[in-house]
Amino acid sequence: MNLNLKKAFTGTILFLFACLSVFAGEIKLKINKKYLNIPISHKEERQKMTFQTDGKDDLSVVVRLASDEPDYWIFKEVSNLKGKTLKISYEGNEAGLSKIYQDDHFVGQDKVYKESNRPQFHFTTQRGWINDPNGLIFYEGEYHLFYQHNPYEKEWENMHWGHAVSKDLIHWEELPDALYPDQLGGMFSGSAVIDYQNTAGFNENGTPAMIAAYTAAGPEKQMQCIAYSLDNGRTFTKYQGNPVIDSKAKWNSQDTRDPKVFWYEKENHWVMVLNERDGHSIYNSTDLKDWEYQSHTTGFWECPELFELPIDGNKDNTLWVMYGASGTYMLGNFDGKIFTPKSGKYQYTSGSIYAAQTYTNMDNGRRVQIGWGRISHPEMPFNGMMLLPTELSLRNTKSGPRLFSEPVSEVEQLFSPINQWTNLTSEKANELLNEFSNAGSLRIKTTIKLSHATSAGLNLFGQHLIDYDLNFNKLNGEFYSPNDPTSMEISADIFIDKTSIEIFVDNGALYFSMSRSADKKNQEGFHFWGNNITIKNLEVFDVKSIWE
Ligand code: FRU
Repeated sequence: MNLNLKKAFTGTILFLFACLSVFAGEIKLKINKKYLNIPISHKEERQKMTFQTDGKDDLSVVVRLASDEPDYWIFKEVSNLKGKTLKISYEGNEAGLSKIYQDDHFVGQDKVYKESNRPQFHFTTQRGWINDPNGLIFYEGEYHLFYQHNPYEKEWENMHWGHAVSKDLIHWEELPDALYPDQLGGMFSGSAVIDYQNTAGFNENGTPAMIAAYTAAGPEKQMQCIAYSLDNGRTFTKYQGNPVIDSKAKWNSQDTRDPKVFWYEKENHWVMVLNERDGHSIYNSTDLKDWEYQSHTTGFWECPELFELPIDGNKDNTLWVMYGASGTYMLGNFDGKIFTPKSGKYQYTSGSIYAAQTYTNMDNGRRVQIGWGRISHPEMPFNGMMLLPTELSLRNTKSGPRLFSEPVSEVEQLFSPINQWTNLTSEKANELLNEFSNAGSLRIKTTIKLSHATSAGLNLFGQHLIDYDLNFNKLNGEFYSPNDPTSMEISADIFIDKTSIEIFVDNGALYFSMSRSADKKNQEGFHFWGNNITIKNLEVFDVKSIWE
């Protein structure tokens, strides 16, 4: 063989070898620590990563495994695998595989919740992407917050149910994920119930099962499934007979998802509200396994809710509220099988909020909601947040009963008054607020009297927090007519966190949520505007972090 031929031959062999070693590979790790640390780079395409123990596939996900400098690290809890050998196979560039390592700490754990753009009084996940709250349930002194979670990067994919618990709806402890993708698909949104009467037969030794109803989203169709937990939601066992509803054949609809299940006391059966086709369907069951289709209400998309509320607290005068993911709702009657709309649709909230869900199993009649805040946190290894928990109520207004949403009273523990002023000119108010414009987090309550102005509001570095047009009856772009139509006043309770702003107008008649997006060129800070307006009330509060 001449030299050139030899070189070419060696080159080809080296190239083939490089190809083999670059694309796809595997490592085996004997697990003796709590976490696997995995480097992520958004320069990489997502490729399949499979985790296998005892020769069985545990989990397949898609991961942007960093082959050189990572953008950030994510972690996978592996303490339950201690003593076992974990095989990780990756179908992409294997260079990153050797960087995966186990440790009793995850990368950045010492700084978690203290990162520069970490919200300080809202729940966010330690690492990865979150969207909808799921399985909101109060049980044995704990509020459970399950949520759509991609633990493998900060964009949507690989849907798991993340899990956090709280004793007061304010301070959260993040726990390991509760539901993992399986052969049926990703773990899409759903709800949870406690099966006190053992209707499904999963209870053991007097311990009632917590049962999660969720959607398994496969490539072809979305199916409704159940899983049960006998250890307060820490671990779930999927029902062997899943799926419990597979309605694609019936409706030929790809989108059948987000089961919201509750016990219908009057008739002793379970109700599932399910988003299918063009609205919400009602199904009934006596055992959570066999479901019978009952009825359908058109006009909603995703994440159904249906619950009963007294009007002005009068238990003898109630209505049912039905809503979807967007924050529009109908009011009507419900007999366990059919929802009969009486009025709507109306809007009680708008902005960044989406896919809000309410708590099940709160025995004091409170209807507490948490919504997903579609809000990012620049430069952070996590994305999305849960908005403040709010209490929903129906109140009579001049136009009839309407849904109100106000922060739960538990939030008050976080705020201490700094100062209060009354009857200020806008110039004076702006001057007084100057020192607070750059606060990381802050609460402001204010009442603006318009007098001669037809529009008025409050900005923060050019961003409209309140933008009220009395002439067009518009508040932050939504139609709004105060209960007293001749009123010249508008009041707002404003919660500002690192990356988000929530505004409750006139005691919860309208609720707005938004990203905090200052106009970098704007120097004004807080800025009341409007011709000759009076700031009748202005209160500023300091905020305690929920992570301390
Ligand atoms: C709403 C939603 C749900 C679905 C989930 C998937 O945001 O699209 O309908 O179950 O997110 O993550």
